[in-house]
Amino acid sequence: MRFHILTLFPEMVLQGLNTSILARAMKNGQISVEAVNIRDYTQNKHNRVDDYTYGGGAGMLMQAQPVYDAWKSIAQRLEKPARVVYMTPAGSVFTQKTAQEFAKEEDLILLCGHYEGIDERVLDEIVTDQVSIGDFVLTGGELPAMMVVDAVSRLIPGVLHNEDSPETDSFMNGLLEYPQYSRPPVWHGREVPQILLSGDHAKVDQWRLAQSLERTRIRRPELYEAYRKEHPPVSPKKRRKREQ
Ligand code: ADE
Repeated sequence: MRFHILTLFPEMVLQGLNTSILARAMKNGQISVEAVNIRDYTQNKHNRVDDYTYGGGAGMLMQAQPVYDAWKSIAQRLEKPARVVYMTPAGSVFTQKTAQEFAKEEDLILLCGHYEGIDERVLDEIVTDQVSIGDFVLTGGELPAMMVVDAVSRLIPGVLHNEDSPETDSFMNGLLEYPQYSRPPVWHGREVPQILLSGDHAKVDQWRLAQSLERTRIRRPELYEAYRKEHPPVSPKKRRKREQ
């Protein structure tokens, strides 16, 4: 999968992504990341990319022309039209489901804004998705774009070496992940739950699901409600019958 990032700070995204699992994925050719500097596409002698907003108000806005020309420099090289994702706190919230959807693409163009945003006309013309990483405001779209690259890349087959791990992640089944333990069996006087040492896989699975449910109910009640709608609790009578 190829990520193309439109940004005023190419070195920030390239350095930030060139570590650990993503660096390995780039080396292995499973993903590639290029950063295109929007400032390289200005047409004024001071290389300015921002200007005042019509109608007044605080702050500067990124102008349409350099954003458009930077996008064009990528789009004209691609065989098929690619999705263009604008990172903005005014977008739809990015979730694991969005990551799964993006992971199906061959090319993904991520557009990072700065200042007070970008002239709406260029957004209307080139952007296919507007995505927020949460209900808070950052100084620019670079960190959000890096988060999207990370979340999408780890879903691409072969990027994580343990192929099982995305399936057991938090959110993959609509619940938060259960607690996990490693050696030693007692640490600071705290014991690993006995059931995990029992070797009874069915019991372990049952325990993990119960932990996931309880965690989700307490920490993310809205996710719990959604899960319960899809999976109504089994009555004790039915459960007894099932187990017979
Ligand atoms: N740019 C600034 N804040 C953002 C956010 N919360 N999500 C996506 N892009 C942003």
